[in-house]
Amino acid sequence: FETPLTQDDLKKMAAYKAVELVKSGMVLGLGTGSTAYHAVNRIGELLHQGTLKNIIGIPTSLKTKEQAISLGIPISDLDSYPVLDLAIDGADEVDPGLNLVKGRGGSLLREKMIEGASKKLVVIVDETKLVEKLGSSTGLSMPVEVVPFCWGYTAECLKRLFRGCEVKLRIGGDGKPFKTDNENYIVEMFFGEDIGDLNVASDKMHRIVGVVEHGMFIDMATTVIVAGERGITVKHK
Ligand code: A5P
Repeated sequence: FETPLTQDDLKKMAAYKAVELVKSGMVLGLGTGSTAYHAVNRIGELLHQGTLKNIIGIPTSLKTKEQAISLGIPISDLDSYPVLDLAIDGADEVDPGLNLVKGRGGSLLREKMIEGASKKLVVIVDETKLVEKLGSSTGLSMPVEVVPFCWGYTAECLKRLFRGCEVKLRIGGDGKPFKTDNENYIVEMFFGEDIGDLNVASDKMHRIVGVVEHGMFIDMATTVIVAGERGITVKHK
């Protein structure tokens, strides 16, 4: 009998495949979340074995920073390395054009800054993350990072942008509003209808002053590695 692969096995498969693209001497964006976790571990392992050398990791969250430090991966930041060779990260949704929804783990702002500065963004997902259209097919939310000041007003402005949209504040495990690494809040957008043109939607959200950043990563991924029951598929932009 063969044991069926778990979702975590698939995440690990995609992560290991992505790490094959890492070369010694690279400045690397280290993603956040349960899939990127495996990639960061693997990078640490290869550094210890001596297979990889002279890597600089730029972590996309405080959590990943801790993980990288615990593995002995040398880390730095965007101020010191404004151009990265490669970034590896997970995603919550991937559409056929390789546009993404990210941030359900809460780290979208740092991810977008760091991954936007990378020559290549390799996204690692299990096949459950593939969708036809962002924000509509899964019934799940699109996270938007907002300043805590009058977040309710900002949420209302976001809600008014899209017909049938519902917006809720993300609450953390302690029952208080969830705070990002930048001390901001996250509001979750549930779209009643198709978001329409992603760039138009993005511009509309950015025009709301209290919005820090939204979770759509449009035209950023250069490669998506999808792990499924039947193996790995690599999609290129
Ligand atoms: C972190 O906030 C996110 O952008 C993650 O990259 C995304 O949520 C994917 O996470 P998982 O790999 O845990 O599904």
